[in-house]
Amino acid sequence: GHDVTSAAVVVLDSSDAVARRVASFLLEKACQSKGVFRIALSGGSTPRKLYALMAQPDYADRFPWGRAQFFYGDDRFVPADSPDSNRGMAQSLLFAHVPVPRDNIHPMPDQGDADEAARTYEVELKRAYGADRLEAGRPLFDVVLLGLGENGHTASLFPRQPVLEEKTHWVASCVPDDAPHTRLTLTYPAIASSRHVLFLVTGAAKAAVLERVRVGDPVEPASHIRSEGEVVWIVDREAAGQATGK
Ligand code: 6PG
Repeated sequence: GHDVTSAAVVVLDSSDAVARRVASFLLEKACQSKGVFRIALSGGSTPRKLYALMAQPDYADRFPWGRAQFFYGDDRFVPADSPDSNRGMAQSLLFAHVPVPRDNIHPMPDQGDADEAARTYEVELKRAYGADRLEAGRPLFDVVLLGLGENGHTASLFPRQPVLEEKTHWVASCVPDDAPHTRLTLTYPAIASSRHVLFLVTGAAKAAVLERVRVGDPVEPASHIRSEGEVVWIVDREAAGQATGK
C-alpha cells in the first residue's frame, strides 16, 4: 500500500528477527537494483541491531556497497561524536566495518545555522537525484527506513511543528518542543518520493502509538507518511500488542 493504513504489517517474534528481515530486504533490493541504490537511514535506537547485523562479514561480503548511496532521514544537529548523533551511530556500528566508499555516505551537516544546513543537504539530495524538482515515477529513494516515536513522530517530523506543512522543500530544520536538540529532517514530499518505506517498530512501549498510526490517526505525524511504492510495517510482537508468549 502507498500509505500507513494500506501498508502490509509483518509481525515477527523479536527485535532480532525484525533486524534480520530488514537486512535481507535491503540486500535483496540492492542486488536487484540497476545502477545506484539510494537509501535513507533512520536514527534512534531501533536500527542499532540492523546496522550491527549489516556489518557482519557474511552479510557485508554480499552487499553491493559500491552502488549504494546512504543518506539520513533525519539527524540531531549535534557533532558526529555526540552519543545522540544518528550519523555517529551508523558510522560506528556499520560504516566503520564495511567497504563502503566514503563518497557514498552523505551525512547531514551538524554545525552552523540549522536552516542553512537544511538547504545544504537539500542541494546534496538534488545533485544525487539529478533534478531540482521531484517527479512522479522517478523516486528519490529506493528505500526509506523510519522509526516511530511514542509521540507519533517519525524521522524528525514532530507534532505541532511547521515542518509538517512543508510541501516544497526536501529538507527542513525543526526544534521539537518535546525532544532534545534541533533536528534536520526529510520532509513528507521527500519521503514520499520512494519505492519502499519501511517502518521498524519494536518494543511494548510502541504498541499504543503503532495502533493509532496504523489506523491513520491524523494527529500523529507518522500517519501522513506515504510512498510512491509501498509502505511496510516490520514490527515485533511486543509492538504489535501481542502478548509475548514465553
Ligand atoms: C531520531 C529518529 C526517530 C526515531 C524515533 C524512534 O532521530 O530520533 O530518527 O524518528 O526513529 O524517535 O526512536 P527509537 O528507535 O529510539 O525508539
